[in-house]
Amino acid sequence: MIRQGLSKKVPISIALLAERCSRGLSTESRKLEEKVALITGAASGIGKATAAKFISNGAKVVIADIQHQLGQQTAKELGPNATFIACDVTKESDVSDAVDFTISKHNQLDIMYNNAGVACKTPRSIVDLNLEVFDQVMRINVRGVVAGIKHSTRVMIPRRSGCILCTASVTGLLGGLAQHTYSVSKSAIIGLVKSMAAELCEYGIRINCISPFAIPTPFVMEEMSQIYAGVDASRLLELVYSTGVLEGTHCEPNDIANAALYLASDDAKYVSGHNLVVDGGFTSFKNLKLPAPVQVL
Ligand SMILES: NC(=O)c1ccc[n+]([C@@H]2O[C@H](COP(=O)([O-])OP(=O)(O)OC[C@H]3O[C@@H](n4cnc5c(N)ncnc54)[C@H](O)[C@@H]3O)[C@@H](O)[C@H]2O)c1
Ligand SMILES: *[C@@H]1O[C@H](CO)[C@@H](O)[C@H](O)[C@H]1NC(C)=O
Repeated sequence: MIRQGLSKKVPISIALLAERCSRGLSTESRKLEEKVALITGAASGIGKATAAKFISNGAKVVIADIQHQLGQQTAKELGPNATFIACDVTKESDVSDAVDFTISKHNQLDIMYNNAGVACKTPRSIVDLNLEVFDQVMRINVRGVVAGIKHSTRVMIPRRSGCILCTASVTGLLGGLAQHTYSVSKSAIIGLVKSMAAELCEYGIRINCISPFAIPTPFVMEEMSQIYAGVDASRLLELVYSTGVLEGTHCEPNDIANAALYLASDDAKYVSGHNLVVDGGFTSFKNLKLPAPVQVL
């Protein structure tokens, strides 16, 4: 069939063919047509990958981030369907303004993705924990998410629809994978989603979180280069990747963007209160590491 279409007897320009192909693709793959999303921490990493994914699926996206220059650059890169707004999630008025800005620009808010978060540079032992640092991390990673839920639901509840996403982490599921402060902040997100789902379901609003495995975004790479001072970037990348258990592939921002697209779209229309773990199986098992029989005499 395809051969016939391309033969000399049926002249068809490559441009026309390409247009048909992309039109065919676009109707099938545009899962967020007419939707408006606000994503915090979208100047880089997971948030940026998700913004790009949402836009290619027909959504308009507002990128809210504390990094002004990078945020503007990201919005420019993603094209006319992306807009940047400066927002520090620790300031409730910034979060409220970001929601109001989205409404004034696009008249609606369908998807709120509370993704902004930071690593915590604290010592390993609880004995040495600086509680001021603990408070600061909680202000961003937990309070910032609570503020995002509060202000997005302020506009979603009257419409009786909407979808909220949050970025948790595998470190919120298992102890020992990160410093206490970070782990605790991500555990809180998993709990938060369940608590909020209880209230929001009566308004038809879904809320879910995603728990990614380690991904070499600036967030992780900065920490790695502090721990392994002087080690070059490609070696650090190898080290991050070596922690994964699923052979043949690595965890990438696009894997999280795909999970977010699923949860934000009608494909997940009956999914709420869920923690979608994207970890290649890491948190599902432990190995006993017994020696092979031939090694035991
Ligand atoms: N990379 C990983 O391995 C990994 C794993 C699990 C969870 N996460 C989580 O994913 C989320 C995104 O991180 P990433 O890996 O894409 O890192 P990233 O550093 O690339 O992106 C985080 C973004 O959040 C922004 N941000 C930080 N503080 C902010 C604030 N107060 N207000 C607004 N924006 C702020 C940063 O400017 C940055 O653009 C975070 O919540 C992080 O905890 C990351
Ligand atoms: C922006 O959105 C419009 C309307 O949905 C669409 O036609 C256009 O292709 C989008 N542009 C980009 C660069 O994605």
